[in-house]
Amino acid sequence: MYITGSNPLSTQDDVAAALADAGLEVHAWHGCTPEEYNTHIRHVLSNNCNIIIDDGGDLVHMLHTEMPDKLPFVIGGCEETTTGILRLTSMAEKNTLKFPMVLVNNADCKHLFDNRYGTGQSVWDGINRTTNLIVAGKIVVTAGYGWCGKGVAMRAKGLGARVIVTEVDPIKAMEAVMDGFDIMPMNEAAKIGDFFVTVTGCKHVITKEAFSVMKNGAVMCNAGHFDIEIDVVGLEEMALEKQEQRINVMGYRLDDSRWVYLLAEGRLVNPAAGDGHPAEIMDMSFAIQALSAKYLVEHKDELHEKLIDVPKDVDMDVARRKILFWEKSIDTLTKEQEEYLYG
Ligand SMILES: NC(=O)c1ccc[n+]([C@@H]2O[C@H](COP(=O)([O-])OP(=O)(O)OC[C@H]3O[C@@H](n4cnc5c(N)ncnc54)[C@H](O)[C@@H]3O)[C@@H](O)[C@H]2O)c1
Repeated sequence: MYITGSNPLSTQDDVAAALADAGLEVHAWHGCTPEEYNTHIRHVLSNNCNIIIDDGGDLVHMLHTEMPDKLPFVIGGCEETTTGILRLTSMAEKNTLKFPMVLVNNADCKHLFDNRYGTGQSVWDGINRTTNLIVAGKIVVTAGYGWCGKGVAMRAKGLGARVIVTEVDPIKAMEAVMDGFDIMPMNEAAKIGDFFVTVTGCKHVITKEAFSVMKNGAVMCNAGHFDIEIDVVGLEEMALEKQEQRINVMGYRLDDSRWVYLLAEGRLVNPAAGDGHPAEIMDMSFAIQALSAKYLVEHKDELHEKLIDVPKDVDMDVARRKILFWEKSIDTLTKEQEEYLYG
């Protein structure tokens, strides 16, 4: 078994060391450069892997573009996150994806819990321990009201913030309003926000236009998979001065009266500046990963589609086990009820 990080800042060195002690071949360290990050992926993929467990799509991308000689060894893989699924969908549409991939993120036991409650909690853990600022009474701007954005907004509200949501999807925007949040375009929200969290999977969601109207002291961070949601290059170009204020907090002076702050270089703030999701929510995601990998191996000769949903019984099985673990139980349909509902 070979393992690497899914992001240059997301590896925790003590965890990597423990995995190496446990016998895994680990190619990862915290704070690797983009070149080192790619070298780590190359090392992992040089091993004629049969199953790929990806998070964000970099393993699958490199296999197809740089190491096609390794493709015949692969039975299939599993993709953990929304951004990775977007990349796989684009490859499948172009007919360039060469092996089946299970869309783990789309399982209910994954996105309903890991994306919403995991990201919702761990993003605020990362922000709080990094900035040591109070959230109550502040204005939090959440860009994106998908599964992760819902969690980030919900937890910000719980901490006492007034929450503004920015969206491009009118239905998600309506949901945000009915959940009790305000909506407006980013360049309007930029004038009043104290904390900004991007979690869209899109690029350049906060740009120079927004930086130029932000309040002194505004804090920005990203929880989307890639570090392109906040235009960090634009911020560096605009800044008159740059100063590290605390670990993982970079201050940028934009004019005589305004400093704005960027957490964790605009990379995933929760693993980069915190511990990431608690293990007791990742257990479900990883259970889905493991059972999906088993499914791929057991059904390898019957898989004709390239994008495969997690089988519903796998999703249900993980949910049942989690409820059992909580030492709780739920009702079961009687025969009569089953007939009434499903005929
Ligand atoms: N930080 C973490 O731990 C973590 C965990 C899971 C997923 N992710 C990543 O977070 C991102 C979002 O995941 P998700 O599951 O919430 O996705 P999602 O598809 O459920 O939600 C994304 C939302 O962002 C909106 N959006 C897209 N472009 C926008 C823009 N320019 N401005 C405002 N809104 C915009 C979309 O309309 C959508 O509602 C992805 O990159 C995903 O890989 C991060």
